[in-house]
Amino acid sequence: MDNFALLRESYTRGGLLEDAASSDPWVQFESWFQEAVSAGLREPNAMTLATATPNARIVLMKGYSPDGVVFYTNYESAKGREIEANPCVALLFFWRELERQVRIRGTAARISREETLAYFRSRPPGSQMGAAISPQSQVIPDRAWLESRLASMGEGEVALPENWGGFRVRVSEFEFWQGRPCRLHDRLRYRLAAGAWVRERLAP
Ligand SMILES: Cc1cc2nc3c(=O)[nH]c(=O)nc-3n(C[C@H](O)[C@H](O)[C@H](O)COP(=O)(O)O)c2cc1C
Repeated sequence: MDNFALLRESYTRGGLLEDAASSDPWVQFESWFQEAVSAGLREPNAMTLATATPNARIVLMKGYSPDGVVFYTNYESAKGREIEANPCVALLFFWRELERQVRIRGTAARISREETLAYFRSRPPGSQMGAAISPQSQVIPDRAWLESRLASMGEGEVALPENWGGFRVRVSEFEFWQGRPCRLHDRLRYRLAAGAWVRERLAP
C-alpha cells in the first residue's frame, strides 16, 4: 500500500475529564481495563514492555494491584537480562477500539518463587512444557530441535524451571490517553511525588 500515510482516524468515542476520572490512578486503570474486557477486545491484557536498553516486545499482564503489574517470562531471556542490568521499564496498553492508550513507567523486580509456582501450576500443561524446554531468546539450530526437545519431555508434572518466573513493575507514573476530535486528545498523567499521586493534564 503506497498511501498509508493518508490513513487517518477521527477519535470520537469519548473524553477523559478531571471530574469523571478518579484521583487514584489504580482506580482509573481498573475502570479502563474492565471496560476493555467488557468491550470484548482480544487480549486486552497484552502490553508492550520496553526495557531501558532500549528494546520492546509484547507480554501478557497476569495481575495488577497497587503493588504493581505482574508478567511472566524467562529470566535468562533478553528482557530478563536487560531488567537485571537496569530495572527501569515502561509498559504500554493500546486499546484501539476504545481509542485509548495507557502508558506506565516503573521499576521491575522478581516476584517470590511461591507466587510464580502458584501461577505456573495454573497454566495448561503445554504452556508449562514450552516454558521448560525453550531457552528463550537464544539462537537455536531449527524448529525440529525445539520439537524434539518437546517430544523428549516425559509425562507427568512439569517442574518449575529455575530460570522462569514473574516480574512485578512498581509504578511511579501513569498516563491515560483518550483520543478526541481535531487531535485535541485528553491526556491525564499521574506521578508519584513524596508518596502521593499528583495528577496533571498534558497537551496533546
Ligand atoms: C500477544 C503476545 C503475548 C506474549 N506474551 C508473552 C509473555 O507473557 N511472556 C513472554 O516472555 N513473552 C511473551 N510474548 C513473546 C515476546 O513478545 C517475545 O517474543 C519474547 O518474550 C522474547 O523477548 P526478548 O527476547 O526481548 O526477551 C508474547 C508475544 C505476543 C505477540
